[in-house]
Amino acid sequence: MLADSYGRVATDLRVSLTDRCNLRCAYCMPPEGLDWLPRPELLTDEEVVRLVRIGVTLLGIREVRFTGGEPLLRRGLPGIVAATAALHPRPRTALTTNGIGLARLAPALAEAGLDRVNVSLDTLDPDVFEKLARRRRLDDVLAGLEAAARAGLAPVKVNAVLMRGVNDHEAPDLLDYCLERGYRLRFIEQMPLDAQHGWQRATMVTAEEILDRLGAAHTLTPVGAAGRGSAPAEEFLVDGGPATVGVIASVTRPFCGACDRVRLTADGQVRNCLFAREESDLRGPLRAGADDAEIAERWRAAVAAKLPGHGIDDPGFLQPARPMSAIGG
Ligand code: GTP
Ligand code: 5AD
Ligand code: SF4
Repeated sequence: MLADSYGRVATDLRVSLTDRCNLRCAYCMPPEGLDWLPRPELLTDEEVVRLVRIGVTLLGIREVRFTGGEPLLRRGLPGIVAATAALHPRPRTALTTNGIGLARLAPALAEAGLDRVNVSLDTLDPDVFEKLARRRRLDDVLAGLEAAARAGLAPVKVNAVLMRGVNDHEAPDLLDYCLERGYRLRFIEQMPLDAQHGWQRATMVTAEEILDRLGAAHTLTPVGAAGRGSAPAEEFLVDGGPATVGVIASVTRPFCGACDRVRLTADGQVRNCLFAREESDLRGPLRAGADDAEIAERWRAAVAAKLPGHGIDDPGFLQPARPMSAIGG
């Protein structure tokens, strides 16, 4: 079991498979990209699968989500998914992606045992997309979403980050688009995890503001917090349901107290929180020949040291040294 000193137990493993990405979303990366991790520092497919196996069979991990950067850029992804889905007990499997390439890969991923996907979609306007993600790829993302639904990677969830003056006028349109297609939309408050350190609390679009805007076009009814568990999204029935919309208010209404996550970076470091100031190396011991029990022990120690919360509003708050694309979303 992966327990911390505040009584939380990590059962949800988020594995970053690469720090690279084929988009350059303004809330995440500068236009020129970043210094990517050198190849030899990345875990191999076999190393990823071994760590996932240790997490699932020795440490109580029940859900494995693959993230990036952009995880579809990782060639071995279908094989990694297949090896994960073949574990006993079988963990739930999920993927968080920007959707580019999903149109082609969705059937193979479903076949490999992927249960579901979360796709980032911040705008429906090709020009806004180009401004925000600095690439003209909106059609690929929309095709990816459609293919995911067709392949049965359900429920298909859509993540939207709103940036003031860029795409924050689009919340109602995004909702209508997702309602029509049966995608579960969630709006995410932007967090201070961008590589450029441009995040500002004062200009962030808050969950409250998003709900106000949606409320002008639809009746929203909270789906009681009781059913939320450790999920970051607060859900609302839209016009009486059954469709829902969610907000992930990581900043204004933190859910750290119910957190059940632990992260593994593409270079084999355990992070006990998105905002952790320290990482614990598993790659070194792995390559030095450590056995499963020793790896598991290091992993337990890493989670045991987890802090109570992200502290974004604390006076001395410092952004983590690594941006979200290198930590895994
Ligand atoms: P499901 O609801 O199970 O589908 O997953 P999810 O919403 O956790 O996954 P996803 O990768 O789609 O993440 C969506 C957003 O949730 C991210 O952009 C983050 O804003 C937020 N999030 C995910 N994990 C954490 C976390 O550990 N801490 C905080 N504060 N936010 C997180
Ligand atoms: N704050 C909040 N969400 C972010 N994402 C990327 N960067 C940030 C940020 N700074 C989102 C992506 C993706 C999910 C994994 O995280 O849009 O949907
Ligand atoms: Fe890529 Fe995701 Fe960062 Fe956008 S948010 S640049 S899709 S890693």
